[in-house]
Amino acid sequence: MPWENVKLNSGYEMPSIAFGTWKLGNGEGPINQVDQAINVGFSHVDTAQMYMNEQEVGQAIHNSGLKRSEIFITTKFSGTDGLNIKTSIKNSLDYLGVTYVDLYLIHGPGLAVPDIPTAWKEMEDIQAQGLAKSIGVSNFDVNDLEILMASAKVPPAANQILLHPYYYVTHAPIIHYARKHNISIEAYSALTPLTESRGGPVDAPVNEIAQRLDVAPEQVLLAWVKAKGAVAVTTSSKKDRLQRYLAAGDLLLTDQDVAAIDAAGAIGRFEGFEGFEGLQLLMKTGAGDSL
Ligand SMILES: NC(=O)c1ccc[n+]([C@@H]2O[C@H](COP(=O)([O-])OP(=O)(O)OC[C@H]3O[C@@H](n4cnc5c(N)ncnc54)[C@H](OP(=O)(O)O)[C@@H]3O)[C@@H](O)[C@H]2O)c1
Repeated sequence: MPWENVKLNSGYEMPSIAFGTWKLGNGEGPINQVDQAINVGFSHVDTAQMYMNEQEVGQAIHNSGLKRSEIFITTKFSGTDGLNIKTSIKNSLDYLGVTYVDLYLIHGPGLAVPDIPTAWKEMEDIQAQGLAKSIGVSNFDVNDLEILMASAKVPPAANQILLHPYYYVTHAPIIHYARKHNISIEAYSALTPLTESRGGPVDAPVNEIAQRLDVAPEQVLLAWVKAKGAVAVTTSSKKDRLQRYLAAGDLLLTDQDVAAIDAAGAIGRFEGFEGFEGLQLLMKTGAGDSL
């Protein structure tokens, strides 16, 4: 299978492409979307307390008839409704209709209250109780990771971060730190050059590579994520696009391809980033439930 599993530092394996459920809302919509992703072949679903659709995700997984061990579920503590980590994981498990999640993340460093070491100890307790097989973080920068690692008994298995070519230079130090400490990187919003930042310098190398390989641009960007050693957390409402995402696991970019995309990304295109930067800022101030 092209998108091989990655081995987490917890000893568990994680599929290296995930179907994300942010912005899918509630009701039949997200149930159908998750159902479609599972039918196409996704075996990793990424949700969060803040997305308010854990129940729908759980329903779709239940409807799929898959054994619990056949689907990898990630959810996140988002500080929603001011609930603490201990209560939040129990609610998430109830909504999802499962007894454990495969990966439980602190959605952002600002949500780690009263401080990162105390919040991380609660995450370690959750793992010890078997409520999450692996525990990790999201949107943590190097400083946040250093604070966490200084007191952690269990290192984070993963750090889920914003990662696309226009943000690679900014977030490369996090990737290097993670590699050194055997923390897996998950990349979200990798398709930003095709969505919020369409028309920037990355378009040219991505389109040239796509033409040469006879694939779609989104496949090139997902192959770029893979080339960076990261797990792709993406989404689509369209079945054929989801199929292309999975097929992108077969693409092999050359070192020159990756370098060309990196170089174009480093030129930068900052329009459209406000949302993401705003999100990161809010995460820092612990206001995740207002997003
Ligand atoms: N931890 C965090 O703080 C955090 C933050 C953001 C996201 N996430 C996770 O990451 C997941 C993905 O986030 P994202 O939606 O920002 O990621 P993304 O993978 O960058 O974008 C997915 C979107 O790209 C569109 N797309 C794909 N190919 C395209 C093309 N050629 N032209 C135009 N549009 C194209 C798709 O639209 P169609 O539906 O039309 O195919 C889809 O809506 C979320 O659902 C969530 O699970 C986590």
